Amino acid sequence: MALLPALLLLLGCGALMAQQPDALAQYLQGRFLYQQHCQLCHGERGDGRGEMAAGLQPKPRSLRQGWFKYRSTPSGFLPSDDDLRHSIANGISNTAMGAFRQFSEEDLDALLVYLKSFSRRWRKPDQIGKVMSLPEPPSWLENKGHAATQAVAGARLFTQHCSACHGAKADGRGPAAAMLRDAWGEPSPPADLRQPFLRNGERAKDLYRTLATGLEGTAMISFESVLSPQQRWQIIAWILLQRLPAPPTLGGSKPRP
Ligand code: HEC
Ligand code: HEC
Repeated sequence: MALLPALLLLLGCGALMAQQPDALAQYLQGRFLYQQHCQLCHGERGDGRGEMAAGLQPKPRSLRQGWFKYRSTPSGFLPSDDDLRHSIANGISNTAMGAFRQFSEEDLDALLVYLKSFSRRWRKPDQIGKVMSLPEPPSWLENKGHAATQAVAGARLFTQHCSACHGAKADGRGPAAAMLRDAWGEPSPPADLRQPFLRNGERAKDLYRTLATGLEGTAMISFESVLSPQQRWQIIAWILLQRLPAPPTLGGSKPRP
């Protein structure tokens, strides 16, 4: 182990031991689980450069900056513990990040402690995000005729706000698509929104959450102050009409509560 991480580890442990003896055991359990199950992709130093990372697209998340895409917290804030637990336990559709359903609550808690030790951002109380309270989908979304009427307005809004990246057909091939890079310097293609399974969830309420939170570190900003709730549901109604059928053999990740 390089000197610097070893030193940081010692200092980190010292601080933890001073807080409470159990914290050290939890940290060590988290480190053990991380080394067994995560390091291969996310890297020994949490920089996303594990042995397997090179061939993967998208790349495993670097955990060192404290920037997370899949959150229920406002843009610019850290994710909630439940967001992290969800990503780990259910995996992320269409990526190499599989579901780790075998972990107990205790394992997950330990993993979070270790995962958070990679970035100083977790030690800043003003970076902790409050879960956004988001509305349930409107009842008209369930009514085919009504949803189709609303989708007409949705199509117009999509052209105005989304198609430059996601393409006129929502297939992810907008004119700006090829130029996009994420904050980690990797190519960042806009999602093909017609796919039956999406990384941040595919249900209407998941799409709404994505629009509310944005995906940190990518060109997918939060539309919280850009589009009204009504406009967002209209766009979602249109996206749902473009959806391709799911192949019968594939299951999506487990939906959030
Ligand atoms: C086979 C490679 C692989 C393994 C093993 C793996 N991950 Fe991942 N992980 C990824 C990829 C790829 C992503 C998706 C990044 C993206 O969508 O940009 C990801 C995403 C994540 C995210 C979500 C990041 C965000 O931006 O919201 C978390 C949290 C995470 N991984 C934690 C873990 C933990 C903890 C483990 C071990 C229990 C683990 N991963 C194991 C490849 C892996
Ligand atoms: C400036 C480019 C850009 C614009 C404009 C944009 N997006 Fe995105 N969007 C992206 C990128 C890039 C991603 C993929 C991020 C990733 O997964 O790394 C994305 C991802 C998404 C996702 C998540 C897909 C998933 O797999 O979970 C949804 C939903 C989405 N966009 C909807 C929209 C909607 C609706 C609009 C218009 C209101 C919009 N986007 C506008 C670039 C953009």
